Amino acid sequence: MRGFPSLVAQAARAAGWLRLLPLLLLLLLVAQPSAARTDVMVPLYVYPGSQSYTNPNWQAAVDAIKANPGLHFYIIVNPNNGPLNTSDPSGLNEGYCNVANDSYIEHGCNRDWTTHLATINELPNAQTLGYVWTRYGARAVGDIKADIAEWAAWETAPTWEDGQSVNITIHGLWFDEVGTGSGNYSVYSELTSYANETFAAAAKTRKKKKDKNVAYSVVLNAGSVPNATYEAQLFDMASAVVTKETCFTSDPAASGVEGDCPEPYEPFDYTALTAGNGLPHDEAYNSRAVIIVHQFVGPPNATTATLQEQIDGVVSLGVHSTYFTSGSYHNTTAEPATVGNVGEMVRIATGANATSAAPRLGFGEQHGGSSWMSWTAAFVVFWSLYSFC
Ligand SMILES: *[C@@H]1O[C@H](CO)[C@@H](O)[C@H](O)[C@H]1NC(C)=O
Ligand SMILES: *[C@@H]1O[C@H](CO)[C@@H](O)[C@H](O)[C@H]1NC(C)=O
Ligand SMILES: *[C@@H]1O[C@H](CO)[C@@H](O)[C@H](O)[C@H]1NC(C)=O
Ligand SMILES: *[C@@H]1O[C@H](CO)[C@@H](O)[C@H](O)[C@H]1NC(C)=O
Ligand SMILES: *[C@@H]1O[C@H](CO)[C@@H](O)[C@H](O)[C@H]1NC(C)=O
Ligand SMILES: *[C@@H]1O[C@H](CO)[C@@H](O)[C@H](O)[C@H]1NC(C)=O
Ligand SMILES: *[C@@H]1O[C@H](CO)[C@@H](O)[C@H](O)[C@H]1NC(C)=O
Ligand SMILES: *[C@@H]1O[C@H](CO)[C@@H](O)[C@H](O)[C@H]1NC(C)=O
Ligand SMILES: *[C@@H]1O[C@H](CO)[C@@H](O)[C@H](O)[C@H]1NC(C)=O
Repeated sequence: MRGFPSLVAQAARAAGWLRLLPLLLLLLLVAQPSAARTDVMVPLYVYPGSQSYTNPNWQAAVDAIKANPGLHFYIIVNPNNGPLNTSDPSGLNEGYCNVANDSYIEHGCNRDWTTHLATINELPNAQTLGYVWTRYGARAVGDIKADIAEWAAWETAPTWEDGQSVNITIHGLWFDEVGTGSGNYSVYSELTSYANETFAAAAKTRKKKKDKNVAYSVVLNAGSVPNATYEAQLFDMASAVVTKETCFTSDPAASGVEGDCPEPYEPFDYTALTAGNGLPHDEAYNSRAVIIVHQFVGPPNATTATLQEQIDGVVSLGVHSTYFTSGSYHNTTAEPATVGNVGEMVRIATGANATSAAPRLGFGEQHGGSSWMSWTAAFVVFWSLYSFC
C-alpha cells in the first residue's frame, strides 16, 4: 500500500476523476475484512420423509441451504448406514421397498429418498456426499467398494409420481470412522483411489458437458489429528479431513450422550485447538480441515451468543468447513445449534456473500486461497494498471 496516495494524486492529475474509478473500487475491496473460506458440513443422517410427509429435521437443512445462498453446504446423506437397501421397515416409506416385498429396487430402493435428494440437487449451493463406514480400517474392503460403486451409480430414479425421473446424483463421499493409526494408510489410499476412479468413470458416461464436470469431494472423518506423516498422507488423498469431532457440553452424562463424546474427553472450545490437537500439525492443511461439534448443550453457557463466539473462533482458524449441533448428528432442529442458526452464524462469521455462492469444485479441484474476492481484486488491479498505461 506504500506509495499509494502519491499514485492516486498522480493519477488524478493525469486522468481526471473518471479514470480513478477502478482505483476507488480497488480501495473498497481492499478495505473489506478478508473473508475466511469456511463452509458448512452437515451430517444429515436423517430419513427425509415420504411422499406426503417431510421430516422436519431434513427440511430444516433444506431451509438453511436456501437461506444462505452465499455458503456452500456439504450434505452427507446416509439412508441405511450406506446406500444399499435403503428401506425403512418402520413404515414411514409406506412399505414400498425390498423389505416389504423382498424385491430390490435399484438406486434408492426407497422412493422417499429420490424425491428429497432431488430437492437438494436442485440447490446450487448444496453438494451431496454419500456416507461410507469403514470401522477404523476393519471393515471388509470389498463391502466398502460396493457402497462406493453404488453411490457413484445413483443418477436418476423415479419419484412416487409415475414416470417422474429425478436427479439423485451424489457428488462425493464421506468416509466415516477413518482409522487414525498410520497402519491404515494402504487401505484408505486404495479406497480413495477407487472412489475417484469410479466417480470419474460414472461422470464420463453422462451426455451433457455440465453433467460430466460435476462437483466432487472426498472427506475423511478421522475425528482427531493423526501423526504428522500419516496426516500428510490423508490430506493428499482427500479433499478435506475431519481433524476434530467432539462435544461441547462439560457433562455428557447429564444428557446421556457419552457415546457422542470421544475419550479422553475435553469439552470443545476453539481456543484450546492447537497444531496437532484439533488442527493439523502442518498449518498449510488448515484450509482443508473440518471441525464438527455435537451436543452443544449446557453446562455451561450453551447460549446463542456462545455459539456465535465458537463459530467465529472456528472460522477465524480458516478451516474448510464446520458444523455444530445441539443434539446428536441427526438432530438439526434442537436449539440453539439448529442447522438454521449454524448456517446464519457461519455466514456472519465468514462475511459470505448474501446472494451467491462460490462455485462448487469439480474433479481434482480443491479449495485454494483464491476466493472470488481476490480474483475480483486481481482483475481490478489489472484494469487500473491497464487504464493508466
Ligand atoms: C441388500 O439386499 C439384497 C437383496 O435382498 C441382499 O442380497 C444384500 O445382501 C443386501 N445388502 C446389504 C448391505 O444389506
Ligand atoms: C413392492 O410392493 C409394492 C407394494 O405392494 C408394489 O407397489 C411394488 O410394485 C412392489 N415392487 C416391485 C419391484 O415389485
Ligand atoms: C444433477 O444435479 C447435480 C447437482 O446439482 C448437477 O450437477 C447435475 O448437472 C444434475 N444432472 C442433471 C442430469 O440434471
Ligand atoms: C507415522 O506415520 C507413518 C506413515 O504412515 C508411519 O510410518 C510411522 O511409523 C508413524 N509414526 C508413529 C510415531 O506412529
Ligand atoms: C487403524 O487405526 C485404528 C485407530 O483408529 C487402529 O486401532 C488400528 O490398529 C489401525 N489399523 C492398522 C492396520 O494399523
Ligand atoms: C459464562 O459466560 C460468561 C460470559 O461470557 C463468563 O463470564 C462465565 O465464566 C461463563 N460461565 C461458565 C461456567 O463458563
Ligand atoms: C431434535 O430435538 C428437538 C428439540 O430437542 C426434539 O423436539 C426432536 O424430537 C429431536 N428430533 C430427533 C429426531 O431426535
Ligand atoms: C454478491 O455477489 C453478487 C454477484 O457477484 C453481487 O452482485 C452482490 O453485490 C454481492 N453481494 C454482497 C452483499 O456482497
Ligand atoms: C481424490 O479426489 C479428491 C477430490 O478431487 C482429491 O482431493 C484427492 O487427492 C483424490 N485422491 C486420490 C487418491 O487420487
